[in-house]
Amino acid sequence: MGDLRKSLLRTQLQKELAKARKMQKEGDQKGAGFHFTRAGAISKKLAEISPKRRAEAMYHNAGEYEDLGKTLQSGQARGIAVDKGPADKHVADAVIDNLIVSVKPDITWEQIGGLPDVKRTIKEAIILPFIKEKPPFIKSTRTILLYGPPGTGKTLLAKAASNTLSATFFEARISSLLSKYFGESSKLIYALFHKARKEEPSVVFMDELDSVATARGGGMNEATRRVLGEFLTQIEGFNTKKDEKVLIIGATNKPWDLDEAIISRFQRKIYVPLPDEKARKAIFKIHLESAKSSVDLGELARRSEGFSGRDISSVCQEAINHMVREMNTSLTDLTSKQVSSYRLRSRPLSESDFQEAFSKIKAATKMPELKKYGDWQKDFGG
Ligand SMILES: Nc1ncnc2c1ncn2[C@@H]1O[C@H](COP(=O)(O)OP(=O)(O)OP(=O)(O)O)[C@@H](O)[C@H]1O
Ligand SMILES: [Mg+2]
Repeated sequence: MGDLRKSLLRTQLQKELAKARKMQKEGDQKGAGFHFTRAGAISKKLAEISPKRRAEAMYHNAGEYEDLGKTLQSGQARGIAVDKGPADKHVADAVIDNLIVSVKPDITWEQIGGLPDVKRTIKEAIILPFIKEKPPFIKSTRTILLYGPPGTGKTLLAKAASNTLSATFFEARISSLLSKYFGESSKLIYALFHKARKEEPSVVFMDELDSVATARGGGMNEATRRVLGEFLTQIEGFNTKKDEKVLIIGATNKPWDLDEAIISRFQRKIYVPLPDEKARKAIFKIHLESAKSSVDLGELARRSEGFSGRDISSVCQEAINHMVREMNTSLTDLTSKQVSSYRLRSRPLSESDFQEAFSKIKAATKMPELKKYGDWQKDFGG
């Protein structure tokens, strides 16, 4: 019951914030203020029924939305400018709250198959800043670039790192920063890093880095150039600061599109490759954990050469679907009344399920692409 109310309130809150943001973008500050005020009231209600640990942050948010609502309704704020006084700063904060997913992820290292060296490097990087007694020549890594084919676990790794640190996880898709807040994006980057520092320990995950970094000279518009500039300034700041508990992880599928300036700012560049046979076996094991299967995992690993972790996860899902379909042939004919009392039948996964799955799923990354990663690794390390 409480959960239902919470989820309804959350939906309402999202709606109010979306409306507020839309109006703000369209220049209707008063309208935006009205919806921010409502968002504030809803946040308060949510805080009242939340556990103490969460409630505090929610009351805080509620206060911010209400302040912001008041400010906008009185016509004092214009646009987003984090460095122009408190009212504008609230606007930026509210935008950041909505645009950037900030969560505490629950991915653990055990849920990521293979990649032992990559995991070790990242674990070392995140633990060092917390160790006070260390000789001065030991510097901790604050900036890591993960590159490799799609679906190989880059996002999972960033989340596991964040989980280990019980850190707040800020996920920023640069393409959406650029498209939604055209012209204001560089201020948002500044605000994002500012907030990450305030909430340390935190992990800032910049996905799709290549979208801001394509060919510095050719074709980059003014807004993108400014974002890149601000990003470089921020990241530089992190490399020089000692032991700040903010870890910056960038990710890309197209490292060769990255600007040299960006590449050089990352202290560590780590290649996240397609899984080898041993890793594929581990990944199958993870994705079939709760399903029973009579098929040997080693055999599945041998048959999935060239597959990414995401491809393997799809194979497992397809095999499960096939089994469910076969065991429940009348599933699609059930009336809504029958559905609620229907007991789904299942059996251990068998060779035929996987045969079907392998006939549908093919490796997503092709050989010529793979060679490009190898070449890039030779040039830039990893
Ligand atoms: N090493 C792995 N172990 C277990 N599951 C994996 C692994 N790699 C990928 N997966 C599966 O594939 C999904 C996608 O992985 P993830 O989002 O981390 O890929 P990515 O490298 O970030 O891809 P992209 O480059 O497309 O963003 C995961 O949710 C998981 O189900
Ligand atoms: Mg990803």
